[in-house]
This record gives sequence, C-alpha cells and structure tokens, in this order.
Amino acid sequence: MPTKEAAITPAGQQTERIPDPCIVVIFGASGDLTKRKLLPALYHLEQAGLLPKDFAVVGVARRPLEKTFPPDMKEGIISGGGVETSDPKLDPFVSRIQYHAMNFDDAAGYDSLKKTLANIDKKFGTKGNRLFYLATAPEYFSDIIKYLGEHGMAKPAETADGGKTWVRTIIEKPFGHDLESAKALNNEVNKVFDEDQIFRIDHYLGKETVQNILVFRFANGIFENSWNRNFIDHVEITAAESIGIEGRGPFYETAGALRDVIQNHVMELLSFVAMEPPVSFEASAVRAEKVKVWKAIQPIHPADTVRGQYGPSTVDGKQIVGYRQEDRVHPRSQTETYAALRLEIENWRWAGVPFYIRAGKRLAKRVTEITIQFKQPPLLLFKDAEGKGGEGIRPNVLSMRIQPDEGISLRFGAKIPGPSMNIGTVKMDFSYAEAFGKSSSNGYERLLLDAMLGDGTLFAHRDGVEATWSLITPILEAWAKDPIKELPNYAAGTWGPATADAMLKSDGRKWSKL
Ligand code: BG6
Repeated sequence: MPTKEAAITPAGQQTERIPDPCIVVIFGASGDLTKRKLLPALYHLEQAGLLPKDFAVVGVARRPLEKTFPPDMKEGIISGGGVETSDPKLDPFVSRIQYHAMNFDDAAGYDSLKKTLANIDKKFGTKGNRLFYLATAPEYFSDIIKYLGEHGMAKPAETADGGKTWVRTIIEKPFGHDLESAKALNNEVNKVFDEDQIFRIDHYLGKETVQNILVFRFANGIFENSWNRNFIDHVEITAAESIGIEGRGPFYETAGALRDVIQNHVMELLSFVAMEPPVSFEASAVRAEKVKVWKAIQPIHPADTVRGQYGPSTVDGKQIVGYRQEDRVHPRSQTETYAALRLEIENWRWAGVPFYIRAGKRLAKRVTEITIQFKQPPLLLFKDAEGKGGEGIRPNVLSMRIQPDEGISLRFGAKIPGPSMNIGTVKMDFSYAEAFGKSSSNGYERLLLDAMLGDGTLFAHRDGVEATWSLITPILEAWAKDPIKELPNYAAGTWGPATADAMLKSDGRKWSKL
C-alpha cells in the first residue's frame, strides 16, 4: 500500500489547544540538535497551525552568529524537516528567528538577553511568556538556571490586564551523570523554578510508537488479562544503533551506553510496558505509576550486567574504526558502547518475569523494539508436529517496533495446509505507515508543544530521574571498580559481545532475532 504523508499529529488531539503567544529561547543553539531537530519540529508545528500567531525563537550561544543563524536554521528546516524551499510559511517563520551571543556564565549577557526578549515582546506581541530550552553541554545547566533566577527571568510576572505571564524551562538530557549529581541538579533547578515549570525532556516520549504503548495496553481490553507473570515468559527491550559515536568522543567518553540510552530512553520504555493503568492521563497520575515500576526493580547484580565495546571491522565493504580509534577517545578507554541488563520487577504483576534490556552503538542494524514472549500452553498437544516439515510450536511473541519500521506484530502458530498436522509460524502485522501514512514528525513536535501548553505528562519528574539513577548508579560504580581486559569485545556491525548471549543462554533463552 502506498504511504501518504500525514500531518503532524496535533498534541493532545483531544483538545488541539494552541499555546499562548511566547518566545522559545534556545541555549546552546549553535549545536546540532537545534538545527536538525528543534527548528524543524517548531516549523512542523507552524505548518500544522499549532503555533500561536505571536511567536518568536531566540537562539543563544557563545559565537557571534547573528547573521548566519536564521539562514542556517532555514536550511535545517528544509533538509532536516523535509520542507519544500517554496513553502509559503517558511520565510515569515524564519523572520521570527533571532540570535543572541553571550557566554552562559557571564551575568551581563543575561541583562542584555532580558532586554532583547522585552524588545521582541514589543515587536511580535509575545506577551512576556518564555520557554527556555537548555540544549547546552550539561555542565552549563546549573549556571544558566542560576543566572535566569538572579536576573528575575525565571518567575512569572504580573501583566497589565491583571493576569500572569508564564516561564518554563526544558532541560535536555543527560540530567546528571549519577544519582548524586542528578539530586544536586534537581536541588539547584528547584531553587529557581517550581516543579511545574520544569520539563526534563526525553525525546523517546515524543515518539508516536512510544505513546502508543499506553494506547495499546489501556485502550484495548484483549491483552490486559494476559499482561502479567501468569502468561508472560519474559520481556526484551532492544535499542540498537548501527551508527557509532558520530564525532562525539569527549561526550561519549563520559557517558557510555548505560548513561546515554538505558538510564533514560530504555527505562522510559520499560515503565510504559510494565506500569499499572494510571487513574487518569494527568501528568501526576502517569508519573506516579512509572515511578512505582522503577522502585519495584530489585537492585541489579553485576552478574546480571554485560558491557561491551566495538572494535574495528568491515561493514558492507566499508572499513569501520573501533571505538578506541575514534577521534578524542582514549586508546585504552573502558567506556561501554554496549550494555545489557537482566532485571526483575518485584510486584504482583511481574515477579519472576525477567526483563532483558540491551542498547548499543555499531550494532548490526538500527532497531528499537520491545518483545513480549508469552508462555507456551500448559499442554503441548502438538508435540509430534515438531520437526515434521513445519517449524513446530514456538511461543507467541508480541513485538512492538518503536523504530524504524514502526508497528506491532503478533506471532502465532498455524496449521500448514495439507494432510498432516504440521505447524508453521505466522504473523499478524500492523504497520504505522500503512495505516496512518508516514509521519514527518521527529518526536520533538509533541514535546515542544506540550511544554508550551504546560502539560508535563510526557516529561520526567524529579522522583523519576532519581529513581532511574538509583538503579543505574550501583552498576556504574561496580564497573568502575572492575575494569575489563577483553575490550573491544565485539566487532562493529555485529549484535554485541558473546557474553550478552551467554547471559540469556544461562536462563535457557535467546535474544529475539530482529
Ligand atoms: C540520544 C543519545 O539521546 O539518543 C544518542 O544521546 C542516540 O547517542 C540517540 O544516538 C538515539 O535516538 P534515536 O531517536 O535516534 O533512537
């Protein structure tokens, strides 16, 4: 079936509310994220008629880019957002993009930024409402927050008509690099902003397929009865990337797969799969259920962890360097580019069901998928069909394909036509692109819009960030004390280290073939 271009899904389709007039102020605007994701996402909202008429964007960074910033963003919208150069809304939108050069730790810069924003309010009618987006390197988060507070830019102000402006901040990941630093950052942010002004972003929650986990589970009755330890054998969550570290050596050296992807993206996926139905879709109700899942996870023993690092290889005829040969990476680096964990959620729904999770760079392909494997029926009536032409009886598997081939499939056994009872495996398959058309959304549209609307449902809360760091920090500490000799331990372009297969093998299982 041909795919059709779908419009950006309006956030909260229930309401289709348009945010108040406002300025989006992006700190760290000279970085890749602004050009590749944020501006294209804002423009997609504009195209969908979901931005306020009175709107402006201000990019803030150190270098003097006043002249080049707007055209550069225009280029990003076209190439990163798949927008036609001739799109009639494009130039008027670009004319509302400005740039402000300053050092993030220079108090005087905030005074002049404040004036610039006030002038934009006058020019574009943005009414004093601000969304500060912190897209800088994480070491600047505290300074920026502190200076915004000290310069009276963090609190809502009274308006002439007796109302109030709003001020919110989106904080990019990584939010801390362990439990202690995440708590310290939370304390600093909470000194300046109230919790309902803070939007800790995880772009996975902007993905339609991730939100759809909740719809799949809670808008459909049929799976709920079997969504528990009585019927589910185990759950796998894979976040595999075929790309390497893309020139981000200094960042990745301080991160690694556990911090970069598992503490946030994978833990979010896990909470959506495992949470109890919330009482409503209010932010606080959803967050409360997610935190319960993370808190019910038993401390993860080092023996239930695997780390890996890619070595050089030839993939599709192309020579790929190993991690240790990447630019600005230590030649004996211990940083993991692959991590796998086995964990259990000790609650009534999940006790005894292993969750196997893995994430890595330079793996065999790019795929993020959740696999739920069901238990086999108690009595295998068709044992004799085993190996007789068909594949025999295999457990039912529900696969939720988060990306890139978005969809859901259910695997089950079927009789192969013919005189004997041979069993084959078939799939019922739902494809997003076929059902709804291919979306040009990159996930940030929904999250930016929600933040402008003040809806924190799809953002991390203080308790949640600390709960996931509580799980991950002991593993990081154990690994730091126990460097491993046999790195690199997987070749670029493969499915990771053999020890990850051995971990499942010792449970009598195998990673699903993706
Ligand atoms: C980011 C990580 O948060 O997520 C990157 O820092 C990673 O290292 C990226 O590549 C993956 O996002 P996506 O949307 O491509 O799966």
